[in-house]
Order: sequence, then structure tokens, then C-alpha cells
Amino acid sequence: MEHRTDFLVIGSGIAGLSFALKASRYGKVTVVTKKGRIESNTNYAQGGIAAVLSKDDAFINHQEDTLRVGDGLCHPEIVEMVVKDGPVRIKELAEWGVNFSLSKEGEGKNYDLGREGGHSKRRVAHVLDFTGREIENILVDKIEKNPQINIFENHTAVDLLMKSKAVGHNAKEQNGCLGAYVLDVEKGVISTFTAKITVLATGGAGKVYLYTSNPDIATGDGIAMAYRAGAAVANLEFVQFHPTCLYHPKAKSFLISETMRGEGGILRKIDGSTFMEKYHAMRELAPRDIVARAIDSEMKRTGDEHVLLDVTHKKPFFIKERFPQIFQKCLSFGIDITKQPIPVVPAAHYICGGVLTDKDGQTSIERLYACGECACTGLHGANRLASNSLLEALVIAHRVFLKSIQDLQKNEFSFPPVEPWDTMGATDSDETVVISQNWDEIRMFMWNYVGIVRSNKRLARAKRRIEMIQKEIAEYYRNFIVTNDLVELRNIATVAEIIINSACLRKESRGLHYNIDYPEKDENKKGDTVLTRKMIHSC
Ligand code: FAD
Ligand code: SIN
Repeated sequence: MEHRTDFLVIGSGIAGLSFALKASRYGKVTVVTKKGRIESNTNYAQGGIAAVLSKDDAFINHQEDTLRVGDGLCHPEIVEMVVKDGPVRIKELAEWGVNFSLSKEGEGKNYDLGREGGHSKRRVAHVLDFTGREIENILVDKIEKNPQINIFENHTAVDLLMKSKAVGHNAKEQNGCLGAYVLDVEKGVISTFTAKITVLATGGAGKVYLYTSNPDIATGDGIAMAYRAGAAVANLEFVQFHPTCLYHPKAKSFLISETMRGEGGILRKIDGSTFMEKYHAMRELAPRDIVARAIDSEMKRTGDEHVLLDVTHKKPFFIKERFPQIFQKCLSFGIDITKQPIPVVPAAHYICGGVLTDKDGQTSIERLYACGECACTGLHGANRLASNSLLEALVIAHRVFLKSIQDLQKNEFSFPPVEPWDTMGATDSDETVVISQNWDEIRMFMWNYVGIVRSNKRLARAKRRIEMIQKEIAEYYRNFIVTNDLVELRNIATVAEIIINSACLRKESRGLHYNIDYPEKDENKKGDTVLTRKMIHSC
């Protein structure tokens, strides 16, 4: 079956949905999303969105903080553009109905601005500690009321549909994107979704690691699909580990927001002593890479399984009012955070690299755009400044909208007949254990060998293992019917391989990439790590 549309949006987080709402004024929009429409990293965002929203702040401050934290790799023109566009995009969200928390101080309606690591000013607009849930609900509500937008839940994009799949395609023609092959997860059928414009908004890849703050959807699908299709990807060695995820056997990936440290939360070892003063003048509010490495180093030295985040010195009323979600969640695990410090550990949180795009979200493939966490625009450099990702997703989705409607108006597009998905005589698998075994193995060695602290030896080990697993997956993929689990396994393996290859290429330590064999920054290596599928990578 073929489904035709003007705009195909893959993913229903802040990037995909905010784009879809705007694009719907110019054509039919189809959103495919692999679980329920709300399920996304966006839905779990806590701290908020960074932007210059107070008289005490200025664009230059936000730009300088982003550049400093990005450790020499941010693209200054992108930083300036995103920062300057921030307040307008936040105003738009508020007009759509997002109920940002307001300050109780001063006159008039001013946002209550939170503070996070690396920021020199309070500039994080938030909805208490559940900013993402509020944004996602508002966007989904608007999408549901929009007759121009069709949303397909439980539909996983498997691969991009490239011009080479057009019947009678001339091999000399430039390659472009015509949509995607999409798996209806419930029916087990793969259909073609053809589109004039395709937008990747598939989010992050935290699931490549054993411990992560990300929900199950974060398997790096957009990055893997684009890479397989021949697109350039960049800076995937820069994986951000959030310093404070709840440490509890039953708390699967629950984040303790950095805004808690912004409100005075103190990091302690289990014996109660503090340690951040040894690592950075900004202590608990140092950039995230520094705090995560400090915790990792203290845990390795003491052998403790976690550290503590202590807010017991704050007024209980304030904690319950400002952090209602975190308070309730911890209480459900028997931790009253007004009286007890919270056990925390670092976990994989955000992928700074992704599909390489220009300032308008255009990838290296014609008619293929990317925005949000799956893209690499140059904003984050070697380390993302906290709360800059929701901002980037909004700003770039808006620019993709402006650019893609120009494309639509400029170019005549006719839907060529395309080859349907080829099952290649595949049969049902009788050995699904291969999937779970490889899934666990990848996430474990990525955590141990390609985590917060890396070395040449560990990277070489990881490379040997991923190459072996990739061969196994390729064979399995050829022989058995494609399921959602197999699609995700293939994607985490691809993203893991790109992360390893990128980390091998960066022979220095910078931002989030720390290799004990090259502990210093090398100013001669100041450049993006750009990879394509055709390159040969050695470690
Ligand atoms: P997502 O919101 O992750 O959406 C991706 C969508 O793509 C999902 O709908 C998913 O189902 C779909 N999808 C994926 N693969 C496929 C496929 N193959 N086929 C079809 N659909 C697919 N950032 C901030 O700036 N501030 C914060 O306070 C903040 N807090 C965070 C807290 C947590 C716990 C987490 C996990 C992240 C946080 N972040 C925060 C990061 C931020 O939430 C994300 O970077 C951002 O929401 C990404 O938005 P997105 O639209 O790009 O992707
Ligand atoms: C948090 O609330 O700590 C997450 C903020 C972010 O990842 O930007």
C-alpha cells in the first residue's frame, strides 16, 4: 500500500509536532510515530527551555555561556541565531497555551526563571518540574484538532525511501528522499509513505547505553536511517551524561532535574562530605560534563554505587511546590526528599551529534530535513548547555518550516512509482533471543567502554565487538521478517558503531569526550567529526 502526503514527519516530539502544526497551513501533513503520540523524550523534559527572558540578561550572555560550555566546537553563527530566536518561539508556545510558571516577585507577569549548570543567569522558562509534559500535551491537542494533519501511532519508520527506489530511476540523477518505508507495528506490515518533503524528528539515542534517562523510544532511528541512506552525520562522540538520575532498583530512568542544583541542591558522597569544590569554581552548577565526570571519579575512588543530592536544607513547602513531580516520584520509592538526600548516578541523557544539517535543518540529502535531538546543527558543539535542546528543536523546526515551504513552492514534484518493500523471502524468526542478547551486549559494552571516561584500548575493544554484532544483525535482517525490536536493534547497533568510530577519530579530550590516552585538548583538532557510510574507519 502507498500513502501519499505533502509533508512526512517522522516523530511526534516537540520538533515534529511544532513543525507539523505550521506546515499544515501549506499542505497535507502525515506524522508517523512509533508508540503512542505522546511518547517522546519531550514528554519527560523537566527543567525547561533556556532563553533570554529577563531584564537582567542579554543575548550575548546566553551566547557566551553556550559557546563556553560547547568547548570550542559550537558554530557561533548558529548559536547567535538560535539564542536570538528563543524569546519569540517561547512566546509562540505560550500563545498556543503552554502555561509557563510565573514569578511571585516583582510586578506584572514575569516568567519564573530557573537556573542550571553552565548558565551565568537565571533563564530557564519552565512549568514547575514537568515542562515537557505540558508542552507535549498542548501540541498533541492542537494536532488532534487539525484536519490537515494525519497521525499514525505505532508506526515505525524502517528506512528512508530514496530516489533509487523509484521505478526506472536514472542512476546518474542526484539522489533525493521520497519518503520512508514504515512498519505498522500491530499488523506487522511495511508500507511506503511517499512525500514531497520528509522531516526526521526522531529524537535521541539514550538506549544505546545501559543506563539512561531516556524512554524506550530513544534508539537513534533517525540518525541510523539517514546514515544508511548516505547522509552525513556529525559529532556523535559527544554523548551527554546527566549527572543526577535517581538510583533505585525500581526507578527505571527517572531524572532528578538540574534545576534542583540551581535552587541550591548540594552533591555529597555517601559519608556526607561534599566534593564539587575540588572540581570547579561553579561547584554543583559547573557544566554537565564536569559534574558527571566528578561523580564518576568519586564513585570509582570510593567504590560507592551512587552519590547523594541533598535539598534537605531547603524549606519543605518550597520543595513540594517547585518540584511536585520529583517529590512524589521519590516518595513513591520511600524517599522523602524534604528529609533525606536523594541517591543519584549519572546516566546517558542527550546525543549532541546527529544528522548534519545547515541552519535551516537541510541535510546532505535533497528533500530530507532533520530537526530536534536527531540533528546536528552546530549549536551544542562538544557539550550542550542545559535546556538548550527544547530551544533548538523549536527554533530549527520553525526554520525547516520556512525553508521547506519555499522548496514546495519552487519545485514541481510528481510522485514517481516506487518499489514496494522487498521482504526477500524472509520468514518468522524462531530465535528472538538473538535480538535480546545483542541488545543487552551492545548497551553493556557501550556503557563500560565508550562511556564517561574512554581509552584507546576500550574503544578498540568496543569496535571489535560492534563489528561482529553488525555482521550477525545483517544476516538476521536478511533472513527474518522485520519487527519493531529488530528495527531498533539494527539502529542502536548502527548508532553505537558511529559513536565508536567518531570517538576513535577524536584524538584529544574535549567537552563530553574524555580519553585518558589524550587527556588534553588539542587546538589543532578543533573541528567537527563528520562521517558518511562510505568512509572506512579504523581505530
Ligand atoms: P523526541 O521528543 O524524543 O521525539 C521523538 C519522536 O520520534 C517520538 O515521538 C518517537 O516515538 C518518534 N520516533 C523515533 N523513532 C521513530 C521511528 N523510527 N519511526 C517513527 N517514530 C519514531 N531538554 C531541555 O531543553 N530541557 C529540559 O528540561 C530537558 N529535560 C529532559 C529530561 C529528560 C528525562 C530527558 C530524557 C530529556 C530532557 N531534555 C531536556 C532533552 C529534550 O527533552 C529532548 O532533546 C527533546 O525533547 C527532543 O525533542 P525531539 O522532538 O527532537 O524528540
Ligand atoms: C534537567 O531538568 O536537568 C534536564 C535539562 C536538560 O537536559 O536540558
